[in-house]
Amino acid sequence: MNTLSFDLSRIGISLSDQIIAEAIRANELIHNGQGPGNDMLGWVTLPSSTSEEELCRIEKEAARLRALADVIICIGIGGSYLGARAVYEALQDPFQLLHRQQDTPILLFAGQNLSEDYHARLLQAVEERSIAVIAISKSGTTTEPAIAFRLFREELERRYGRKEAARRIVAVTDHAKGALKTMADREGYTTFAIPDNVGGRYSVLTPVGLLPLATAGIDIRALLDGARLMELSTATDRPFAENPAACYAAVRNMLYRQGFNIEILATYEPQLQYFTEWWKQLFGESEGKQGRGIFPTSTLFSTDLHSLGQYIQEGERNLFETVISVKNSQTRIVINPDRENLDGLNYLSGKRLSEINHTAESGVCIAHVEGGVPNLRVRIPEISARTLGALIYFFEKACGISGYLLGINPFDQPGVEVYKKKMFALLNKPGYEKISEELRSEI
Ligand code: PA5
Repeated sequence: MNTLSFDLSRIGISLSDQIIAEAIRANELIHNGQGPGNDMLGWVTLPSSTSEEELCRIEKEAARLRALADVIICIGIGGSYLGARAVYEALQDPFQLLHRQQDTPILLFAGQNLSEDYHARLLQAVEERSIAVIAISKSGTTTEPAIAFRLFREELERRYGRKEAARRIVAVTDHAKGALKTMADREGYTTFAIPDNVGGRYSVLTPVGLLPLATAGIDIRALLDGARLMELSTATDRPFAENPAACYAAVRNMLYRQGFNIEILATYEPQLQYFTEWWKQLFGESEGKQGRGIFPTSTLFSTDLHSLGQYIQEGERNLFETVISVKNSQTRIVINPDRENLDGLNYLSGKRLSEINHTAESGVCIAHVEGGVPNLRVRIPEISARTLGALIYFFEKACGISGYLLGINPFDQPGVEVYKKKMFALLNKPGYEKISEELRSEI
């Protein structure tokens, strides 16, 4: 089955032999483990190496949680949050909360921000619901999810007592270290390990993503199948032109070298909005280093055609656009003719809404290319677990290749530590720098 194809026809440039050779070499570095960050390459073979035993264990635990609770609170931030949320939102009925009958638990998310109102309202919203918690943190020490976990652990213990609370908590964390692992061992929580050699933003195909998704009834085997197809399509024995991740990485770096330093990931499907958030984190945290990197941003069209659309069409010419183009929708709406035609829409009679959406996509592509915005297109046949698995692996592989083309280590994130140190200092966390009263009062 064709899960994904990559279209370069609207970029308006041709790839140089030099960049093609560099992209081939970068892909080889990922596979032979001789590039920077080579201790974090576990994600490369995850689709083909995840064992039946691991999958069964995840599915069994998911079934146990499903039977136990009707709301699952997934606690995590960054790579320990966005992948699960991206796939969940893409495959969920967006209006499921209005449905009377829920067959599978709803996933709600916490710990991805420090908002008092968000967390208070979440605690309040689940007051009458049976709940369980999946706490996800590789380090086991990240402040935002640790605070949310404390809040929800207290809530579970208050409601169910300490022993039952422990049955309702699953920890996905390091196999040996970190505060979450210590607590899990002490309280007897079920745990799943995040492999040492897989970083947060490359971890959606580990229990970090697979456990919450399986709990929500999503077919994680299909997700991995799609990723496995892409693992094969982007292997080093594939010719460059048939490796979509290498092509994409080469094009975006070629554009970057010509001054296009902002990439917009565009979707015409609101269900993919969180997928674009996952993509932003993947590329932003991987590439934004040493004063370099394409700034990743995203748009949801048509919505943003009526906001950012003006800038994209006529603003500074340093943008290029990558569109996730979805061929088939899962439902059907046909525009009916109207006797009076007061809205003037009868010329659309008989057309499906998806056809009009696709035509908008084509029109926008022509307009943006004419306006000087190179346009790349990633095509998927439909939004499904399989195609999302393929998309995930495609972007992960492209990100690794692209990072090497840029000359940075795409698998670390030293910059993320800086805000933490300043926040800890301001919170008077023991062991951090002292911030003067003068500076405190200035900010
Ligand atoms: O990609 C990354 O490494 C980060 O985004 C982390 O996933 C994020 O900071 C959360 O870290 P942790 O899982 O250790 O709580």
